[in-house]
Order: sequence, then C-alpha cells, then structure tokens
Amino acid sequence: MELITTSLLCFLACSAFFLFLLKPFSSNKRANLPLPPGSLGWPYIGETFQLYSQNPNVFFASKQKRYGSIFKTHILGCPCIMISSPEAAKFVLVTRAHLFKPTFPASKERMLGKQAIFFHQGDYHIKLRKLVLRAFMPEAIKNIVSDIETIANDSLQSWEGRLINTFQEMKTFTFNVALLSIFGKDEILYREDLKRCYFILEKGYNSMPINLPGTLFHKSMKARKELAQILAKILATRRQNQQDHSDLLGSFMGDKEGLTDEQIADNIIGVIFAARDTTASVLTWILKYLGENPCVLEAVTEEQRSILRAKEECDEENKALTWADTKRMPITARVIQETLRVASILSFTFREAVEDVEYQGYLIPKGWKVLPLFRNIHHSSDFFPEPEKFDPSRFMVAPKPNTYMPFGNGTHSCPGNELAKLEMLVLLHHLTTKYRWTVVGAQNGIQYGPFALPQNGLPIRLRSHS
Ligand code: HEM
Ligand SMILES: *[C@@H]1O[C@H](CO)[C@@H](O)[C@H](O)[C@H]1NC(C)=O
Ligand SMILES: *[C@@H]1O[C@H](CO)[C@@H](O)[C@H](O)[C@H]1NC(C)=O
Repeated sequence: MELITTSLLCFLACSAFFLFLLKPFSSNKRANLPLPPGSLGWPYIGETFQLYSQNPNVFFASKQKRYGSIFKTHILGCPCIMISSPEAAKFVLVTRAHLFKPTFPASKERMLGKQAIFFHQGDYHIKLRKLVLRAFMPEAIKNIVSDIETIANDSLQSWEGRLINTFQEMKTFTFNVALLSIFGKDEILYREDLKRCYFILEKGYNSMPINLPGTLFHKSMKARKELAQILAKILATRRQNQQDHSDLLGSFMGDKEGLTDEQIADNIIGVIFAARDTTASVLTWILKYLGENPCVLEAVTEEQRSILRAKEECDEENKALTWADTKRMPITARVIQETLRVASILSFTFREAVEDVEYQGYLIPKGWKVLPLFRNIHHSSDFFPEPEKFDPSRFMVAPKPNTYMPFGNGTHSCPGNELAKLEMLVLLHHLTTKYRWTVVGAQNGIQYGPFALPQNGLPIRLRSHS
C-alpha cells in the first residue's frame, strides 16, 4: 500500500520523541537496557535529509551494513527502530504483535476513514478481518474467475495497437477487479461514478491536509462524501431486495453484530486503496521483467498455451478460465513470486511499540516506531543467492519462514493476497497467449512515487501475436 511508504515522508508531528526526551527512563527494569545501535542524527531533522537525498533502499542497506539487523534512526522527528532479520520480523509482526500497533499519520486516517481496518488492533480489528477474509478467501473468489477474465480481456483489447502507460492501464484493470470483488455485479451500474469520485479522493492523499475551498484536500473530502452517498444508494437497494451476496459488501452487511454505514464506507475505500496501486505496480514490474527475460516469457507462454490446448480438447461448451486452471500455472506463479521479491513494492511497514519492549537485550521504548524492512530481507544474499538477479526458478524450493513476506505476516498480513495473485494470473494468461509488447524509450530508471515503479510507468506498445 502506498499508504505505508508515503507515510514515512509524512510524519510531521511525532509526540513520541518529546515524550522520550521528557521521560527517558521509566522505573521498570527494562529501562536499564541499551537502545539498539545507530545514530539519531540531529533531533527533529533527524536523518530525513539523507533519506530524501538517496534511494531509500540504499539508505537502509548502508545502515544495515554498518549496524546490523537492528538499528535506530530518526525520521521526520520520529525515533525509529529498523529491523531486518526474519527473527525480528516474526517477533514484531507475529509472536508479539499485540505489543506493536499499526501507526499512520493523521492525514491518512482522515482520508481513508478512521474506522478502516489498517488503523485498528484488538476486537474491532479481529471482527473486520474475519469479514474481509470471508470475502477474499479462495472459496469466495473462485466464483468470480470468469468475471475477472472478462475484465482482463476487455483491458487488453483496449490497449491493442496503442502506446500505453502500463502502470496507468494496470490501475484501471485492478480498480475494476477491486470493484467487482466489493460490489459484485452491482458494480457495473456505478463504475463510472465510483471511479470519478475515487480519482478525486486519491489526488488529495498526498496533499497538505488544509480543508479550505479550492485545495486538493477540500476537493477530496467532498469526493469522499459523494462516495458515501453512492454507497448509501447501493446499501438501500440491497436492503430492500434482501438477497445474499458473497462479495465484500455482502460480507459487511451480513454481520450479525452489524457494521454502521460509516464503518462500511471507511473499509470499502480502504480496500480499494490497498488493492489497486499495489497490484498494478506488481503487474507493471512483471511486464518489465518478462520483457528483459525472453526465455522466461517463452516458458510462461508455453505453460499458458497448454492450458488453452487442454480446454480446446475437452468438449465442454464453456471455455472460460476456472479456479482449477489457475492452479495449473506453476511457472507463471513463480514469475509473480520472484517479481514480488525483487521489486518488493512495499519496502517496509510501520508499527509503534505500545509499551517498553525488550528484544535480544535491547530496549524498544514505548512510542517508538518500529519498521520491519521487507525489502532488505528479500534482498539478503543469506536467503536469496545473487539477490539482484531475476530468477523465478529459485522458488522451486519454498523460502524459509519470515524470509519472504511480500504480503506481510501475522495479524495484519494481507487478506487480499489470493485475489491479487488470481487477477495477475488471469491477466498474464491472456497477455502471453495473445499479445507481445515493446517498451518505448530508454528503460533503466526507477521512480519512487511513492513506491518503486519502472520509469514513467513503463510505456509500451502492445500488438496481437498468434
Ligand atoms: C500484489 C498486491 C498486494 C501486495 C504486495 C499487498 C501487500 C500487503 C501487505 C504487506 C500488507 C500488510 C501491511 C502491514 O503488515 O503493515 C497488506 C495489508 C492489507 N492488504 Fe494487501 N497487498 C496487495 C493486494 C491487496 C488486495 C488485492 C487487497 C484487497 C482485495 C488488499 C487488502 C489489504 C488489506 C485490507 C490490508 C490490511 C489488513 C489488516 O490491517 O489487517 N491487498 N497488504
Ligand atoms: C476475449 O477477447 C477475444 C477477442 O480478443 C474474444 O474472441 C474472446 O471471446 C474473449 N473471451 C472472453 C472470455 O471474454
Ligand atoms: C509467518 O510466521 C509464522 C510463524 O513464525 C511462520 O510459520 C510463517 O512461515 C510465516 N509466514 C511467512 C510468509 O513467512
């Protein structure tokens, strides 16, 4: 989620640091423990300048080299502890998850809605997570494979022969799939309105949170209201018709204890936000890596053609892709896994210690941010030999626990991971069997906006290929 990465640069106010200055030592025995190594830089300005002036991954990697897999630093006024070992990631995200709560800047909370799943811990979080998982688990998304296929097919057809910005077009694809998984077939009726509002809302995500007429923030708050109104209409229709729906909205509405309309709105906007740019940027990286590795592209194409052939040989009328078909794509699945590793689009996530915590003899003080650095773990040669090399075959052996966490781990891990993998497989099926593409312009750069993307969103020209 872009949420996570941008929030790093948006931590303008951080009371925890002041608390630390005022009360550096509490009375319990943990207070005598040393802090992890590292430098805190100048208070408040911290090491932010260094972070801004370098690729963030270089910044983290050089720190890790100097201090090891746990070190302290200071970003935009916040004292932080960065961790980059599987053991520490397991400690923070899984076994001691209750000691580390999710943390985001207030402006993000205002935009997405305070009641969205990401911001919570405890009973409300558990309840939401159950509802979200119910809508995105294999049993539920099995039924929408052919609808996803139609969306993929339509997207590809609309790109044919044109010069396109891969990332922008993938965003349309992943947006449409997200709406389908949330609203089911109701989606088509409201797609254009939802899209228009969401696009305005999104523009305000990274703007200054000043709510005055004319500002981006003001416009996006208005769009948010309009989204809530569209949603109210859909909710009213569904309540009247009283049918059951297996999509996310159906799951939210079916809860016995009941979610309020506002809770539903916050979480639907949150899911679109979590689902769209993440999946679109992974797809963009996949096209880049397949383009640079023709042998891998050939192997994927051959695998996908064999699925087509098997369907042609069987007598069934219906040639649509099925869930079972998507389980017969191991080569394509490894390309997705390896892209998630190399690109590591969510380089890290944020937590905040809810009390003083001891880890391996070090003190993690209450209120400090803790950042598990996924990308550093994924790029460690201890777990992935020649880490910079794109080599899907390395996933023929399963990675060790907590060395590969593109979807996180523990209580807040990604509930949409099955849907993300499914929609990528379906798009790649049609893309590789029917089309070829060429990248337009020089392609070496990476842009951070806010997470890593090939330069200019990877402009390509797509043509049909038989
Ligand atoms: C390839 C695409 C995706 C990647 C790499 C990804 C990655 C992640 C990661 C790493 C987290 C955990 C963050 C943390 O622990 O702080 C997360 C959380 C989440 N993701 Fe995804 N995600 C993707 C697609 C999706 C999709 C398609 C959906 C929805 C259908 C989704 C919904 C969510 C939600 C709701 C959460 C918050 C869960 C919670 O706080 O309990 N994601 N995602
Ligand atoms: C996908 O598009 C092709 C044309 O490119 C069409 O012949 C085919 O029937 C479509 N398949 C699905 C599942 O919509
Ligand atoms: C998440 O943590 C558990 C417990 O350590 C582990 O068994 C599992 O393999 C981890 N998942 C990933 C994706 O590493």
